[in-house]
Amino acid sequence: MIPVTPLNTERPSALATEISERLNAAIREHLLAAFAPDNTKSLRAFAAPEVAELLGVSGQFMRKVHAEGTVPEPSDIRAGRRYYSAQEIWNAREILERSSRTKGRYVPRRSPEEKLQVWQLMNFKGGSSKSITTIHLAHYFALRGYRVLAVDLDPQGSLTSMCGISPEIEFDGLTIYDAIRYDDPVEMVEVVQPTYFPGLSIAPSRLILSEFETESAVHSNPNQPFFTRIRNALVQVENDFDLVLVDSPPQLGFLTIAGMAAASSLLVPLTPSMLDVSSTAQFLELAGAYMGVIEDAGATLQYDHFKFLVTRDEPTDVPSQQLTSFMRALFQDRVMSATALKSTAISDATMLKQSIYEVVRSEMTRATYDRAKGSMDAVGEEVEQMIQQAWGRS
Ligand SMILES: Nc1ncnc2c1ncn2[C@@H]1O[C@H](COP(=O)(O)OP(=O)(O)OP(=O)(O)O)[C@@H](O)[C@H]1O
Ligand SMILES: [Mg+2]
Repeated sequence: MIPVTPLNTERPSALATEISERLNAAIREHLLAAFAPDNTKSLRAFAAPEVAELLGVSGQFMRKVHAEGTVPEPSDIRAGRRYYSAQEIWNAREILERSSRTKGRYVPRRSPEEKLQVWQLMNFKGGSSKSITTIHLAHYFALRGYRVLAVDLDPQGSLTSMCGISPEIEFDGLTIYDAIRYDDPVEMVEVVQPTYFPGLSIAPSRLILSEFETESAVHSNPNQPFFTRIRNALVQVENDFDLVLVDSPPQLGFLTIAGMAAASSLLVPLTPSMLDVSSTAQFLELAGAYMGVIEDAGATLQYDHFKFLVTRDEPTDVPSQQLTSFMRALFQDRVMSATALKSTAISDATMLKQSIYEVVRSEMTRATYDRAKGSMDAVGEEVEQMIQQAWGRS
C-alpha cells in the first residue's frame, strides 16, 4: 500500500502535483496486481463451443476436421475438452477458408476493391461509452477474423490502456501524435503496433497527443491542413487492415475533426438521459458547422453510415426508455436497433481493463454475463452488417 500522508495544500500547483503523483503510484500498484507478474496483458483460451460459434460451424464439424487432421488440435486439451488460443482460431480460419466453396466465409477480409472501413466514435459528452464501445467492437471484429486497427485520439489514452499498453506505466513509445505532428512526422507503420489480442493493432496515445490541438491552432499551412493528417496517416497502413476504429476525446477539437475527415462512417454513442441528449444536440450542431468549414477548405466528407448507438441502456428504467423511444421516433433507423446494455459485467470487466470478450463466463454470474455479451454481440453484428453493406456484399 502507498503511505497516506497529509497533502501539501500550501500552493495549488504543489497540491495538484502531489495528487497526481499519489494517484499514479496507486494506479501503477493496481495495474501491477492486475497484470502480474510481467505487467503484460494476455488473452484467455476459448472453449470449443465458443470457437464453433465464432467460426459459424457446429461442434460436430470441428470434431470432424480435427479427426481428419485438416485443422490441427489446439495445444490445450483438459479432461477431453479443447481450449483454443485466439491465434489458433485465426489459424483454423485460414485453413477452413482455403477449402471453403464460399469465399470469405471464414476469413471475411475485404478485397482490394472494398474500401477500408474507418469508423469514428464521437460525442463530446464525457462518459458516453466511446472507449468501451470501441474496445468491444475491436474485440468483436478481431475474433471474427477481421484485421482491426484501433486508433486512440484521446490524449487520456483509455483505449491505449485497454489494449494492454499502460500510459501510466513507463510507456514512452511512439504514438499517433508522432505520425500526425507537423514537425518531422514518422511513418504510421512505426506507430502501429500489434496487441496481445490477435487481429487487433493499436495506434496508441498519451498526453503528448494534446500538442496536436495547440500546434493545429498555430499551423496554418494551406498545403497541409490539419484535417488531412489522420487520413494521410491511415492511407500509409491501409493495406494491412479491414477496419479502423477511432476513439475520440470528449471534445470537438482538431483531433476529433481530423478524425471525422478520415472516417467513412460515424457512430455517436449516447446514454439515454436528457442531459446527454441535449449535449449531443449541441455537439452535432457544432460538428455540422465544422464539417462545413473543412468542406469549404477542400475536405470531402462522405459517410456510408452516420448512426446513434444507445449505450448504458437500462430496459427497466422508464425515463431512459422513454428517451430512447423519443430518439427512435425522431430519427428512425439512424438510431441503431441494438443497444449496449448497462451491466455490472461490463463495469467489472473494465475495472481490469478487459472487454466482456476477455472474461471467462464461469467467473461471473452466468445470466449477467450472457446478457452483457449478448448485447455487445448484437451491437457488433449490426455494425458488421453495415460494413458488409458498405462493401456491397449484402
Ligand atoms: N455498458 C456498460 N455497462 C456498465 N458500465 C459501462 C458501460 N459502458 C460504459 N460503462 C462505464 O462507463 C464509464 C465511461 O465509459 P467510457 O470510458 O467508455 O466513456 P467515454 O465516452 O470514452 O468517456 P470519455 O469521454 O471520458 O472518453 C466507464 O467507467 C465504464 O466502466
Ligand atoms: Mg473515452
